[in-house]
Parts: sequence; C-alpha cells; structure tokens
Amino acid sequence: MSPRLLSIVFTGLVAGAILAFLTLPGLRQGSADLAVGKQTTGKALVGGPFKLTDHTGKAVTDADYRGRYMLVYFGYTYCPDVCPAGLQVISAALDQLGDKAQRVAPLFITLDPARDTPAKLAEYVGSFNPRIIGLTGSAEETAAVAKAYRVYSKKIADEKSPGSYTLDHTSIIYLMDPQGEFVTHFTHLTNVDQLAAQLRKVLEAR
Ligand code: NI
Repeated sequence: MSPRLLSIVFTGLVAGAILAFLTLPGLRQGSADLAVGKQTTGKALVGGPFKLTDHTGKAVTDADYRGRYMLVYFGYTYCPDVCPAGLQVISAALDQLGDKAQRVAPLFITLDPARDTPAKLAEYVGSFNPRIIGLTGSAEETAAVAKAYRVYSKKIADEKSPGSYTLDHTSIIYLMDPQGEFVTHFTHLTNVDQLAAQLRKVLEAR
C-alpha cells in the first residue's frame, strides 16, 4: 500500500474505533462531563449549538440550518488526502440527489481556523461542489464545535518545512436531522452510492 492509501485506511480505522466508542451504551446515557450534546437517554451525544462564520464571511449558528438535514464534516483545506476524499464522497452523493440536495446543508467545518479564512474556504469548498458550505471562526469557536461533535485533532509539525504543519484528525461525516439531532454517520471511505441512497431514504421518509 502506498503511504497515502495507508494513511487513508488508518484514518478510517481510527474513525471506526472512535465511533464504536461513541456509540457505547454508557455514553448514550449522558454523564455530566460528556453531555456537551443531548442529555436525553437513548440519543447519541453528538452535536450541539455552534457560532461560526461561513465562507462568504457571514456570521451563522446551527439554528440557520434548522429545517434541513446537516451533513457535518470537519477538516482543513491543507489536508493532503483525507479531507479531499471525504469532500469528494459528499460532493458526488449530493450530485446524485439532484434537487433533493437542497434539503441538505453540507457543512465543512475547519479544524485549522488560523489558516482557513472564509476566502480560503470559499475557494476550497467551491472546487468540490458549490453546495458545500465552509465554516470557520475563532480558535475557541472551532474548538467548541469540534468538542460538541467529539472530533479529535492534533497539530503535527512538518520537520522538512519549518513552520508548516498538518493535522491528524477524525474523519467522520455526521448526518443530523432538521432539528439538529444525530441520525447516523459515514466516513470518507463510505461508498458514494450508499451515502446517496441513505440520504434519499431519510429525505423520502419525511
Ligand atoms: Ni483532513
């Protein structure tokens, strides 16, 4: 396997392990320090309110996307392989949905707000699909939303190029319902047809 492929597979495995952990029954009950999301018994404790800035520079909150399903994906524009893979999967699934995709808000939330300005995000998400909404904010704002979605990220200094860095990060695509509640999740390794089929299913069920 090439190092790139190995990295993608590894990230997928890590994402799977984290999800397996997140969906343990105990975590669904809502202990105090884990209850950043919903505390209702039986609901997954993923997600919650956020206050960010979209790629057009507009201040937004989670409430702006109520009434639409949200596909929430975290990453950063300098990501060498995992984020592009995830955004390609999302983009292709949205294309398959056609007009139905208007009922889905695909959100790409940066884990690297220092470099991912609204302008940088606009260029980046636009290169995948004009429907995708890039979100950034202050370091505190992006850290808060990452925490609410149980997203891990860690800065890794690039030894070959002083001052530059990459991020190791969780690669999970969360599907949230029109009330902002967790429905299910995918990863950047999810098959496009499966993602499109699942989205079609939830959209048709309502
Ligand atoms: Ni990435």
